[in-house]
Amino acid sequence: MKTITEQQFRQAMGQFATGVAVITCLSAENNPVAMTVNSFTSVSVDPPLVLWCVNRAILPFPAFSNCSHFAIHILHAGQQDLSNHFAIDSEDKFANVPWQPGIGGIPLLEDYLALYECETQNRVDAGDHVVLVGRLLDYKLREREPLLFHAGRYRELMPA
Ligand SMILES: Cc1cc2nc3c(=O)[nH]c(=O)nc-3n(C[C@H](O)[C@H](O)[C@H](O)COP(=O)(O)O)c2cc1C
Repeated sequence: MKTITEQQFRQAMGQFATGVAVITCLSAENNPVAMTVNSFTSVSVDPPLVLWCVNRAILPFPAFSNCSHFAIHILHAGQQDLSNHFAIDSEDKFANVPWQPGIGGIPLLEDYLALYECETQNRVDAGDHVVLVGRLLDYKLREREPLLFHAGRYRELMPA
């Protein structure tokens, strides 16, 4: 069997272009928690299910693996700084970021392309990550262009 290194895996998977999302939840102590992801995808129409994957090794893992609800903020073009802000190793990611409570108290950010409020439906162990499946409870959409991610770099849509 071929041995695939972490670097090779990242390089290979990075060819799949994605959007970028910031996912939020409340910790067990009711503090807002957030992280940047690109592993989000839709799963089922009926019932309306989505999934994303969280690394077991990161600080926010306990909060996301135990939360009853989470919010997915799909980022728009120009939100690279927000994406980087929620991807860095920091305990107080909300120091200068305004938010309001949504369903179940989940922190909702002000600026996004799309907002999905979800109830945690299922957790699936998958190697060094856990797959979180959520049921879509509510959503809001805005007319903006998406922020994209490909081969380790942010991108924006070009007209075909
Ligand atoms: C574009 C992008 C996509 C990411 N996607 C994921 C992901 O899907 N799952 C994940 O666990 N971490 C992902 N990360 C890394 C996390 O954002 C990062 O490890 C986390 O915010 C670190 O949190 P901490 O600093 O509080 O430990 C991504 C980072 C970036 C910049």
